[in-house]
Amino acid sequence: MAYVVNHLPEYPNERVLVGPKTFADAGIYKISEDTALVQTLDFFTPIVNNPYDYGQIAAANALSDVYAMGGKPLTAMNILCYPLKLLDRDILVEILKGGADKINESGAALVGGHTLQDNEIKYGLSITGIIHPDKIVTNAGAMAGDVLVLTKPLGTGLIISAIKANKVLAEHISLATKSMVCLNKAASDAMLEVGVSACTDITGFGLIGHAYEMAEASKITLSFFAERIPIFEDCERYVKMGLIPGVSKLSKKYLKDAVRIDPKVRKELVDVLFDAQTSGGLLISLPKGRVEMLCTKLRGKGVVTVEVIGEVHERGDVSIIVTP
Ligand code: CO
Ligand code: CO
Repeated sequence: MAYVVNHLPEYPNERVLVGPKTFADAGIYKISEDTALVQTLDFFTPIVNNPYDYGQIAAANALSDVYAMGGKPLTAMNILCYPLKLLDRDILVEILKGGADKINESGAALVGGHTLQDNEIKYGLSITGIIHPDKIVTNAGAMAGDVLVLTKPLGTGLIISAIKANKVLAEHISLATKSMVCLNKAASDAMLEVGVSACTDITGFGLIGHAYEMAEASKITLSFFAERIPIFEDCERYVKMGLIPGVSKLSKKYLKDAVRIDPKVRKELVDVLFDAQTSGGLLISLPKGRVEMLCTKLRGKGVVTVEVIGEVHERGDVSIIVTP
């Protein structure tokens, strides 16, 4: 993507507070001194077999970037590609119902959408939210001395890959679905109440990929304690079965010089840390003195997974360090 963005013309606009140059998947446009729009969109092919769950996951995933920046979603629009002639319309109803229910849970309003005839189903949403221009949480504010908190387990990419290969354990489908349909709203509310330095949601680049972006944007080095990182229990079995998603392999290859991994960290676990996530949790960086307060608030708001997984250091020779 960087190649493409760098070859596009630049049309500077002083109202654009976060734009394409930062490679963020959400943009922010200032309307007035106290209001800015936060906009994002995401869509993908089915990742689970249940159409209602797929719709819910697509919506939770599309909303996630708004929550990661500390915004409040206001409106949503459906994006749908669908083989109308081949597939039962009831499936379409279930997908859109899943999306609509999640949007309703977020407090936003579904205001429209667009459908296109296509050979393969693709569904997602564009989301518009609001945010105070001075209260935007970005991935650029992490500071040495901060600690890192993660709010969902890793491994959805491996589990989705195992679903597609028909090799998945039933309990993994239900655990991963439960996690992916969960909005990052409660986590975002807690982080705004406590006040944090930086945040990113964990999606297609995996934990290490999004952490790398945070390290580069904040000009610091992040270290992770591998054994403390929450993962779906036994999802490493899919690494051993050769079911690592292609995008996860690419992240690992692309980032190999930016990451220093202690040889004592299990090889399979390393692949989970690079695993591409769908509707993953928030990675929050905040001063050590406030971490107890954040964890208490997260749990109080019903966030199931709350783990302190790493620390922020002055910029060193690599972006990321992983120790056992
Ligand atoms: Co996104
Ligand atoms: Co994101």
